[in-house]
Amino acid sequence: MPGAGAILAENHNVDRIEAPVTFKAYLMCAFAAFGGIFFGYDIGYINGIMGMRYFIQEFGNGSAMISASTKSLIVSILSVGTFLGALIAGDLADSFGRRTTIILGCVIFSAGAALQCASTASGMLIGGRFVAGLGVGFVSAIIILYMSEVAPRKVRGAIVSAYQFCITIGIMLASLVTYGTQNFTNSGSYRIPIGIQFVWALILGIGLFLLPESPRYYVRHGELDKATQVLARLRGQPETSGYVTEELAEIVANHEYEMQAVPRAGHFSSWANCFRGSIGKPNSNLRRTILGTSLQMMQQCTGVNFIFYYSTSFFQTLNLEVDPFLLSLITTIVNVVSTPISFWTIERFGRRPLLIWGALGMVICQYIVAIAGTVAGNDKTVVKVEIAFVCIYIFFFASTWGPGAWVVIGEIFNLPIRSRGVALSTSSNWLWNCIIAVITPYMVVGLRERVFFVWGTLCAIAGVYAYMLIPETKGLTLEQVDRMLEESTPRNSSKWTPNTGSMYSVRKNRASVAETANHEEDHEEKEMAGKKASSS
Ligand code: BGC
Repeated sequence: MPGAGAILAENHNVDRIEAPVTFKAYLMCAFAAFGGIFFGYDIGYINGIMGMRYFIQEFGNGSAMISASTKSLIVSILSVGTFLGALIAGDLADSFGRRTTIILGCVIFSAGAALQCASTASGMLIGGRFVAGLGVGFVSAIIILYMSEVAPRKVRGAIVSAYQFCITIGIMLASLVTYGTQNFTNSGSYRIPIGIQFVWALILGIGLFLLPESPRYYVRHGELDKATQVLARLRGQPETSGYVTEELAEIVANHEYEMQAVPRAGHFSSWANCFRGSIGKPNSNLRRTILGTSLQMMQQCTGVNFIFYYSTSFFQTLNLEVDPFLLSLITTIVNVVSTPISFWTIERFGRRPLLIWGALGMVICQYIVAIAGTVAGNDKTVVKVEIAFVCIYIFFFASTWGPGAWVVIGEIFNLPIRSRGVALSTSSNWLWNCIIAVITPYMVVGLRERVFFVWGTLCAIAGVYAYMLIPETKGLTLEQVDRMLEESTPRNSSKWTPNTGSMYSVRKNRASVAETANHEEDHEEKEMAGKKASSS
């Protein structure tokens, strides 16, 4: 009798057609994007709070300002917590499930928000931000993993881009709320913006509680019945539908093949698996981990958080009549309205072109700002041109690198290391976020507008990096991405299709599944023989 593996091998078809994306299925996948609000709101609200008079009096121990080191600690401690949270979450997501880990992240985050709300001195606020950071780390790392795993391949890029869209909405909402409460003369000025965060945690936690777990998590644990059930729910199809069995067959076949290459290991060796293989091989685990972590580093090096953390103080140095706070708010609005463009472009043109052309757009804008500021920084008209180009720069970031970096890290890891790989990449985002948050104020003091030469040069490096190293993953299932990495190089990856692939790995997949089936048959035969022997 054929085992499950053999049945799956027969059904396995690399060119299979995916189930039509129903509206309900689309909404289910897109809901998780809401986690981006957490991420964005946390980046955004602290900027506003630290400029508030009441907050400064309360937390500056009566003095007219909070010391630079305390400020820096308050801002960056969140990224420290997030960095650690993202790393821990990678482990938990494999043991307890993607969904449970995100819900746990919401609970931890709420505890951190409660501490911050209750605080009247910087010690408790810093502790609260650290705890909240752990929660944001859980959510930000695992949401990407969850969304990439549950989304149908045709809209996977768009759905993960929706996460970035929510990040931008979170940043804008934080600016709006702190704008509204900044002149309050009581603790509501900072407690309201902090307290609003509970709402995000509640919506995300309850929403995910109602959503299904990722089918790939169940496949990892060998629970194929549950994997079938959740996949059927996600695709809006009956469990017996050919769409469901074929998609599951591909996930299982690929997982079995990968498990042969990278056997399941203990805690430390499974982390070590992320760093195995040769750096010269585009599909080695080490190469994927370096790609994911360096991509997130490059995203931070585009300088975007210079704008979202420090634009208010930077605009103040430009001596304009316009309220610098309002200008900052405008940059957050440009960020929000530009992001949805990527929903279409990321699926139409692909990930590679978006990252390459986006970097070029950012380089041009940043060099214009830097040159204009250096040549005629005191001329009011020139300053307006500078601000316009800062906004165009944000447009380029928001429509390309913002979503692109998240989409790619959700797609490049194979299932045995996916949760840890995405977690490491997300940690890298927060690590560089923290480094930039700490060093930028010192850079601006010395460089003023010339700081844009630094960001412009880093964006140029990001463009070359994307050209040389980013593979095209558009339109492929996560399992096909695996084979594409094995059979092509980043520069010719956009021409790879499941049919142009050598079929070598497909054969290997089939061989591995068939082998598993044989094992199962052997096992069944032995069991039967054992039963016969014991009954006689
Ligand atoms: C980045 C954040 C940034 C945000 C701006 C995200 O993709 O990771 O650091 O603040 O985009 O929209």
